Amino acid sequence: MLTAYDAPTARLIDEAGVDIALVGDSVGNTRLGYDSTLPVTVDEVASRTAAVARATEDALVVSDMPFLSFGADTDDAIENCGRMLKEANADAVKLECGPHTVELTRRLAEIGVPVQAHLGLTPQRENETGLYRQGTDEESARNLLDLARRHEAAGAFSLVLEHIPANLAGAVTEALSIPTIGIGAGPDCDGQVLVVDEVIGLSERPAPFSKRFGDVRGEMKGAIDDYVDAVESGAFPAEEHSHHEDGLDDVY
Ligand code: KIV
Repeated sequence: MLTAYDAPTARLIDEAGVDIALVGDSVGNTRLGYDSTLPVTVDEVASRTAAVARATEDALVVSDMPFLSFGADTDDAIENCGRMLKEANADAVKLECGPHTVELTRRLAEIGVPVQAHLGLTPQRENETGLYRQGTDEESARNLLDLARRHEAAGAFSLVLEHIPANLAGAVTEALSIPTIGIGAGPDCDGQVLVVDEVIGLSERPAPFSKRFGDVRGEMKGAIDDYVDAVESGAFPAEEHSHHEDGLDDVY
């Protein structure tokens, strides 16, 4: 799984055979200039989801439901999640989970909205937990395993595990029959996910557990600097980038 926020990236992800394109609420930090995911709106995720869905043929498209679009009022949550499937063409939604999302997961699964659960570090709770490792003591590890089981029983089709010890992620993966997808959770999950901007080297502040596989930021900077130089020096546009029409002499 990889995040995707726009059509060209989604097309590349799809062509590379990535199974799931996640329209993460990380779009807030990566592309929209917010300093957290909290301000991201349902409209913002819906519009990005629609772009990703238009560009993918094989990948499952999952919309990450933004902060407070679920978890308070069930009818509102159903309407917001339903919009992703009905208007934006998502295949499923992801919820940052806690005890409050077990019943919602059951209800959504019951009415045909597939739910991917997300446990461990859930950045929408950053004001409560910070953006730190989770499940690092026995009690929180047990709670996480219990919540994982309850979301599986409620009908979640997979589970994202973020920034938890690798041995805990391995134990959760063993305990569940739905696939686990890890991010900063070690090698023993069934799948892996990263934020695409970190993978391609576009992020300014990548997470400590991610890995850069390219230097798109460097490439973009080089291209933009070269463009500015070429315009300032008059090297661009050249003859081959311009066209002339006969018969316009009377106009000037
Ligand atoms: O928003 C996001 O990108 C995510 C992934 C990090 C799992 O939730």
